[in-house]
Amino acid sequence: MPGRIPQDFINDLIDRSDIVEIISSRIQLKKAGREYKACCPFHGEKTASFTVSPEKGFYHCFGCGAHGTVIGFLMEHDRLEFIEAVEELASLNGVDVPREAGNAPSSPTSPLYDLIEQATSVYRERLRENPAAIGYLKSRGLDGDTTARFQIGYAPAGWDFLLKRFGSNDESRDRLLKTGLVLRNEEGRVYDRFRDRIIFPIRDSRGRTVGFGGRVMDQTEPKYLNSPETPVFHKGRELYGLFEARRANRKLDRLIVVEGYMDVVALARHGITNAVATLGTATTPDHLQRLFRAGNEIIFCFDGDRAGREAAWRALQVTLPELREGRQVRFLFLADGQDPDSMVNEVGPEAFAKLVEQSDPLSEYLLEHLKAETDLGSMDGQARLAELARPLVNRIPEGVYRELLLERLATEVGLSAERLTRLLSDAGAAKPRSAEPVVRSSQRVTHGRPGPVRQAVTLVLHQPSTASLVRVPEGFDELDKPGLQLLRDLLAAAEDTPDIKPARLAESLADHPDGGGHLTKLLTLELPLDEESDWEAQLQDTLDGIVRDDLERRFAELADKANHGLTDAEKAEFRELQEQIAGPRSQAG
Ligand code: CTP
Ligand code: MN
Repeated sequence: MPGRIPQDFINDLIDRSDIVEIISSRIQLKKAGREYKACCPFHGEKTASFTVSPEKGFYHCFGCGAHGTVIGFLMEHDRLEFIEAVEELASLNGVDVPREAGNAPSSPTSPLYDLIEQATSVYRERLRENPAAIGYLKSRGLDGDTTARFQIGYAPAGWDFLLKRFGSNDESRDRLLKTGLVLRNEEGRVYDRFRDRIIFPIRDSRGRTVGFGGRVMDQTEPKYLNSPETPVFHKGRELYGLFEARRANRKLDRLIVVEGYMDVVALARHGITNAVATLGTATTPDHLQRLFRAGNEIIFCFDGDRAGREAAWRALQVTLPELREGRQVRFLFLADGQDPDSMVNEVGPEAFAKLVEQSDPLSEYLLEHLKAETDLGSMDGQARLAELARPLVNRIPEGVYRELLLERLATEVGLSAERLTRLLSDAGAAKPRSAEPVVRSSQRVTHGRPGPVRQAVTLVLHQPSTASLVRVPEGFDELDKPGLQLLRDLLAAAEDTPDIKPARLAESLADHPDGGGHLTKLLTLELPLDEESDWEAQLQDTLDGIVRDDLERRFAELADKANHGLTDAEKAEFRELQEQIAGPRSQAG
């Protein structure tokens, strides 16, 4: 492999590329002020929330959260790997991609690729000459075509098959050691890793073989052996079958993630050519990114046994940060004792495809899992569900997907989405104790979803004219909460000058001690709502919500304290709060 691409070159390439030109050659952009807008190519939408800023050299979708530089766009839109995107961009700019070690063939890893490639072909040859190995593959339902497509081979018995061929001198033997295909024992003896095993070559995204999996043909343990981590093989990154899947499908929308080599190959044998497998490891974030680069829909297919369920739950957690509108993730659980290989051989490809069609959407699986751990009949159960859901929901990027999931969750537990959202943020803050409520509420503001104060600030900032249209709820001016003084001053300033440009408004309060320095950032990074929103009603709701939140917080605090006795004043306050909270929403302010 050639050496690394110098970071300076990449930075320079980004700087000199015209992001607008590159994106507009792929989707239709409309000029909007200093930026450009479009309907986001990464999720389905009717209003344009995808913006490109030539000044900042980045794109950002307010709907699904997709964002990045021109390289990120090429990776995501054209489904390229990083290096491929850099190469594409360089060629658009008419420059060559320099490599750190120069383009000399002395790059340290390239002989390893060659060597592994050569091993692949000799293993292939051996398979052709070995009736027992061919017989084994046949007994597992494979045909010559599939075997060839996956370059499946056979490593003969004996300790020195590869060693004799490729390790005749010290230098070549060291190289062979680096590939992990031979190893050295404690006595210093060097020998072949794969002996008398069916060989599954693992290819990287460019089709280069980087490692192998080897299976015994009988009951010997271990059943599988894999190449170790080497300079060219990283288990947590590679997906077995991804190269083959991309080659078999001009357009890959959906990928099925299975557990084993044989699952991938058996499915391919039956014409289901979009399966990939993690290599005996749990699903990693790297895997997820690769998967979503290849397609928008991922179906995890696991055994129905406990190990399978645990693997699925782990996969779900790794998946959450990658969720956005336009991406789909589903889970297919097979019966205990079945795997995709046995299943497809038993029921055939059509029935298997039907199972895939009927697999559970991630949201459903998540809900079922949480519900199984809580008793929704009780208030405690609802609170517990909120507590369990909170860290999960917070891993999902803000955007439509998260909102939809929250709504589903809310319906499921019989609460309004609003109330659930509140429960979710309360669950994280635990029960506030009177000694430290301020610390807790400030934590709430800085972590996870933006709190209502920040939402209101963002709204006023983007739509200053709404400030004079809303009614400030009772108690609002007396509240003490981080950021609230900034919000009050922002509202006052916007009320005075309803026509003020957002940037000017942000600038005028940039020195505000209560976080004025963040205003410009809010302005550039977020639009709180889509175009059709009723800004005025939103702001009103948010302001009312801030006061109401505080009432509820104080109420919970007093309720907590009630066990140890309340003063008369506190009792009176408690009753009043009870009425206010129970009363219709409009009376909260
Ligand atoms: N695996 C491994 N080492 C083992 C067992 C399993 O690395 N000792 C990995 C392999 O990548 C294997 C996957 O885990 O493909 C799934 O293992 P398992 O379900 O046991 O094997 P199957 O894929 O069902 O293999 P087969 O059908 O050939 O028995
Ligand atoms: Mn199996």
